[in-house]
Amino acid sequence: MRVNQMDKELIKTYRSFLKDSIRKVIDFSQTDQNRRIPPPPIEKPCPPEAPRIDLPRYDQLEEIGRIDLKSAFQNRESRRSYSDQPLSMKELSFLLWATQGIRRKLDSGHALRTVPSAGCRHAFETYLCILNVRDLDRGIYRYLPLEHQLLFEFSEEDLDKKISHAALGQSYPGAAAVTFVWTTIPYRMEWRYGIAAHKVIALDAGHVCQNLYLACEAIGAGTCAIAAYDQEVMDKLLRIDGLNEFTIYLASVGKIF
Ligand SMILES: Cc1cc2nc3c(=O)[nH]c(=O)nc-3n(C[C@H](O)[C@H](O)[C@H](O)COP(=O)(O)O)c2cc1C
Repeated sequence: MRVNQMDKELIKTYRSFLKDSIRKVIDFSQTDQNRRIPPPPIEKPCPPEAPRIDLPRYDQLEEIGRIDLKSAFQNRESRRSYSDQPLSMKELSFLLWATQGIRRKLDSGHALRTVPSAGCRHAFETYLCILNVRDLDRGIYRYLPLEHQLLFEFSEEDLDKKISHAALGQSYPGAAAVTFVWTTIPYRMEWRYGIAAHKVIALDAGHVCQNLYLACEAIGAGTCAIAAYDQEVMDKLLRIDGLNEFTIYLASVGKIF
């Protein structure tokens, strides 16, 4: 069904998503958190036998990411062409740590990360479409922030073409060393905020991607945020259900010339 883009009522409805008025109509005593239902896992579980890859730890990345913050702000831009140079494991580790890394685990349901998140709920998973990272086969991986490991999800034929197709034909994900695909598991936020969860999930995604922009500047790489993608095709490519977990944002990354 196609809708009239400028329909005034429709615009009013969609604008209200950006407001916090919703808080006034929520009975917070009925959220799952206040009904004493245990919090959902802070990381999507994976089978114990699933193949995992250790990433260089944060304290082993001393020589990486040392530029001054002012120049990172000044030089940051969306970069859509990349060289053929692969990313190293250390560089990938740095980008993952900068975007979703754990700073401190508080208890089984909460952990502080390198980005802020409403209510510390961190309702994202990071999938990686890896095409050109040294020592890694091409394929779809997932970051495990608690362990700072990569989970190998699966390989896929013509992954470069498929990721570009899922990004509505934008070519750069297919030419990138890696494309970050952030999914959300909305229940992690809904558990605390009910129907006030969704605006803050969208706000949270911005922080994650901005850290990626700045971290890329520090390693001679570039990134481009991507919010234009085919929802169903992207979710299918990641083999996620599209209901309890779905794609929310992408960013292609590669070394720059
Ligand atoms: C939420 C968001 C969505 C975006 N989606 C796309 C996209 O789908 N494709 C694209 O080429 N650029 C996308 N961009 C990049 C913007 O076009 C870019 O940030 C803007 O033109 C300003 O350029 P700069 O980032 O170099 O300052 C997106 C940026 C943001 C913040």
